[in-house]
Amino acid sequence: MTQGLIGTGSDLIAAIDVGTTKVCTVLARKSKNGFPELVSFSDAPCSGVKRGNVVDVAAISDAIRKTVGEIRSNVGIDVRSAYLGITGSHISYENRVDYFPNIGQQGVVTSDEVAQIPHMVSDGLSLPGRTIIHALPIQYSVDGHDGIKNPVGMHVKGLEVTTHLVTADSYFANKLQDTLKMSAVELKSMIIEPFASSEAILTQTEKDIGSAVVDIGGGTTDIVIFKNGSVVYTGTIPVGGFQFTNDVCLTYNVGFSEAEEVKVKYGNTNLSDIDLTEVVPVSPIGSSATIELRRRDLCQLMRERAMELIRLIDLKLQQGGVKENPNSIVYITGGASQLRGFYEMAEQFIPNCVVKRGFPDFLMGITDDLRNPSYATAIGMVLHAFNIENSVERRLGMSDSIEGQGLFGRIKKIFKLT
Ligand SMILES: Nc1ncnc2c1ncn2[C@@H]1O[C@H](COP(=O)(O)OP(=O)(O)OP(=O)(O)O)[C@@H](O)[C@H]1O
Ligand SMILES: [Mg+2]
Repeated sequence: MTQGLIGTGSDLIAAIDVGTTKVCTVLARKSKNGFPELVSFSDAPCSGVKRGNVVDVAAISDAIRKTVGEIRSNVGIDVRSAYLGITGSHISYENRVDYFPNIGQQGVVTSDEVAQIPHMVSDGLSLPGRTIIHALPIQYSVDGHDGIKNPVGMHVKGLEVTTHLVTADSYFANKLQDTLKMSAVELKSMIIEPFASSEAILTQTEKDIGSAVVDIGGGTTDIVIFKNGSVVYTGTIPVGGFQFTNDVCLTYNVGFSEAEEVKVKYGNTNLSDIDLTEVVPVSPIGSSATIELRRRDLCQLMRERAMELIRLIDLKLQQGGVKENPNSIVYITGGASQLRGFYEMAEQFIPNCVVKRGFPDFLMGITDDLRNPSYATAIGMVLHAFNIENSVERRLGMSDSIEGQGLFGRIKKIFKLT
């Protein structure tokens, strides 16, 4: 234990990614040079989420406690509050335009006024049954002039703001919050998962050019699209690695864990890569005998599912306007993107943009193990949380969110050394 060597708790930030297959907790701090730096990381398998929706609060809470306990024993720090990722089919997104006549009344638009805009947008809304997760300003307009990225210092009275508003079904958001309560961890705020992944993968230049991050997880495929430096589109497809495994279960009548093993070990969506005569031994449910299935058939099954998912991804990318610029970069990340052959298929069947593999980065001290597509969301969450707490962006009004407001409270608790 290195208790007492970490410094005061106030520089520490924790983020918890509750995924369909695992819970990850990341603890980071502000390094001497001001950049976020990894302090500790822990993950634990968990199946309390299905397609992004909480189905077992106790299971998630157990997994959170396990990761928090591991961090405590590794570095002697007790995680008492954390940012929490949220995704799922219950999330909705809209780009809305609001006019604020009182902004600029002091002669010029101030940075404080701009920093308040996300809160003003959310305060002015009544959305029964919905919880606002983010209100991210995209652009500002003055007297009919669009495309202003930063209105601070402008001599105007009244400002029109276009915002990307992300809301969640309150029922699911509250259940997710309950998992933290049961783990004795206080919620700082929620972060939408695809947005988090993008923080660990995209550079500012890529956000400016126009880019997308496609995170193919266990239960959902999450997509976020940036243009001119701002989020303009977020979307979720309720398909992930689970469906690939489930296809193997249903087709060959094998249990889920065996199907998972077979998928990871033998799955390949590129049939020309495999030996066409190779067979794979499996044990069907209810039978003591082992049968042999043709690897070629297994891979054909994977290919069909991959093709369907890639079509859905391409459709979302079109809806989000990525295809309008052939220089747009589409990063493919998430655990299920590691299926052999999948990335090459994405390159082939997602035309009119540059497709790349997305590995999480930008966190000082990140280990090779963590530079894995499965951890893009967890790493991105702690980076985004770091931005919120040290936010130059917030002061400039370039990007903001409703974190710490409303339902989830303006909780400003710090971490305590045990
Ligand atoms: N080498 C691999 N080949 C194929 N699939 C893989 C491989 N490694 C991981 N996966 C799949 O990745 C999925 C898990 O991905 P990830 O860890 O990103 O999900 P998650 O964050 O738990 O879920 P979600 O983001 O959907 O809530 C599982 O379906 C798993 O089978
Ligand atoms: Mg995930």
